[in-house]
Amino acid sequence: MAIDPHFERNRDVVDRHEAHDVWGPVDEPETLGIHGTHVAVDFDICIGDGACLEDCPVDVFEWTDSPDHPESEIKADPANESQCIDCMLCVDVCPVDAIDVDPGRSKRTR
Ligand code: F3S
Ligand code: F3S
Ligand code: ZN
Repeated sequence: MAIDPHFERNRDVVDRHEAHDVWGPVDEPETLGIHGTHVAVDFDICIGDGACLEDCPVDVFEWTDSPDHPESEIKADPANESQCIDCMLCVDVCPVDAIDVDPGRSKRTR
């Protein structure tokens, strides 16, 4: 199952992490939600593959720990989503379609 491209409509912001929103539901440790808005990573789908960290030309992603999550114990966090240049490499390389990038979605800098 891929990330829901309409998560903004179907989910609510339940938390903040680093400088980005977290879209629920969140029920740690097994349900972590979607991190980010312009660059969104579904932590419940991410398997910690790392291709996004390797390939993003502007280093949007950083590892964050997710102990006891059923898919992986590290996740690619869009810590620098405001730097994204919409190259879409991350969307293409993720083997489990955990990432959605939409140039029309705001880069939140609250
Ligand atoms: Fe990087 Fe993905 Fe944006 S590879 S530049 S976060 S579209
Ligand atoms: Fe996770 Fe996909 Fe990146 S599995 S680490 S979001 S390439
Ligand atoms: Zn995060």
